[in-house]
Amino acid sequence: MGITRNHHHHSPDLTTTKKKLKYNHYDYEEDDTCTGFALTLGDFINPMLPTSIVVSDALEPDCPVIYVNKVFESVTGYRADEVLGRNCRFLQYRDSRTQRRHPLVDPVCVSEIRRCLDEGIDFQGELLNFRKDGTPLVNRLKLAPIHDDDGVVTHIIGIQVFTETKIDLNSVSYPVFKETCKNEGDQVAPKSGMVKCTECREVCGILQLSDEVMAQNILSRLSLRDVASIGSVCRRIRQLTKNEHVRKMVCQNAWGREVTGALEHITKKLGWGRLARELTTLEAVCWKKLRVGGAVEPSRCNFSACAAGNRLVLFGGEGVNMQPMDDTFVLNLDAVNPQWRQVTVKSAPPGRWGHTLSCLNGSWLVVFGGCGKQGLLNDVFVLDLDAKQPTWIEVFGGGPPPPRSWHSSCTVEGSKLVVSGGCTDAGVLLNDTFLLDLTMEKPMWRELPTSRIPPSRLGHSLSVYGRTKILMFGGLANSGHLSLNGGF
Ligand SMILES: Cc1cc2nc3c(=O)[nH]c(=O)nc-3n(C[C@H](O)[C@H](O)[C@H](O)COP(=O)(O)O)c2cc1C
Repeated sequence: MGITRNHHHHSPDLTTTKKKLKYNHYDYEEDDTCTGFALTLGDFINPMLPTSIVVSDALEPDCPVIYVNKVFESVTGYRADEVLGRNCRFLQYRDSRTQRRHPLVDPVCVSEIRRCLDEGIDFQGELLNFRKDGTPLVNRLKLAPIHDDDGVVTHIIGIQVFTETKIDLNSVSYPVFKETCKNEGDQVAPKSGMVKCTECREVCGILQLSDEVMAQNILSRLSLRDVASIGSVCRRIRQLTKNEHVRKMVCQNAWGREVTGALEHITKKLGWGRLARELTTLEAVCWKKLRVGGAVEPSRCNFSACAAGNRLVLFGGEGVNMQPMDDTFVLNLDAVNPQWRQVTVKSAPPGRWGHTLSCLNGSWLVVFGGCGKQGLLNDVFVLDLDAKQPTWIEVFGGGPPPPRSWHSSCTVEGSKLVVSGGCTDAGVLLNDTFLLDLTMEKPMWRELPTSRIPPSRLGHSLSVYGRTKILMFGGLANSGHLSLNGGF
């Protein structure tokens, strides 16, 4: 089959083809294996696979289709009578009523088809098409013009190799696959007489990197958020971002080796991707009722509790008749059957309520202030929970803050106690912040100078984040006098 203008020696083939076309115009019973084309179209067609074939009349305006084979009908879902007389571009429309090329159809590829048809040369490339029912197909399309004896293009043969695609049609970017083949019209392959088609991949450079380089050198260095968004670029990158190794590296960048090491066992079930999503979005967070044994007796209110690793520690509180309590309880959540147990201590701080209990370095606990039998306190006691005989030891820090209750406290860098706000004996709300470094041999209280002082308050919370940043939240901020017990 001759397809360049001046190859007259091919005309017998051409004549046969033309005759055959005319002859078979509406004859759908012909043999669709198309062996004659397969011979000349080389490796484009696998003769074992049924091939979709279209022929257009190049002498009529807009190249109307004059023939489609049965494979075309069955793959695209369009019957021959719905297609004949139309230009083939309708395959680029998802919805035949809109008569518009779908945004994911690569316009560069379409203009390349146009150029090849205008110049009367071969086209070969891949583009997105749609079945009649709107489902997407990748079309590896080959177009070959047929010339008459005078070199005039009379027909164009289209060979389509359709494959299914799971492309996300709602994404706005294209191309998902981009393999536009350019024709170099002046290069004629000597033996076959076919126009040589050289590939011209207009692919972004980054996509030419190997999977390994892309994963190791780029993806695994990104932040959690970035790796999640880059996955939407294309299927290949999405696939790489799903790799467990890449995901673990990304988690490690975000949380450090120690944390990822500790989380390793959880990810066996969940996978790193899911874990990262749950931790960053908190989407899986929910309260769960925990049934525990033992009891904190006698019952009380206005105690203080804090976590020491996976242990919950509780100290003091207000018993019946405003009785200040001085007992310590622990609930070990690592135990198979967690139970409240009273800690037997050699000595205890004076009983109190409205105080704070904070954890230092994982197993030390520190009590500050509160309301005791004799009124408000500003004393500090420390207990080592892991000691053989746990004992509350009073720490005499120089220059303590005024006595208070309903204040808030937290620990910074594991060993510095920070106390803020609360309420004085006279019921006045406070807005000060004090720090006591418990690693010092002779700890000294130091008032923290702040450029902007938050309003005085009590009953608020202090939390540490980013190692040294303190978040103050809520509480009751109301100037004036307050009743110490109840009433607010
Ligand atoms: C014989 C023949 C078969 C074609 N087959 C297809 C096809 O299967 N899918 C497709 O998207 N375009 C196909 N085309 C290309 C379109 O018909 C059209 O030429 C192309 O979209 C460029 O023109 P336009 O920019 O005017 O749409 C075919 C063209 C011809 C001549």
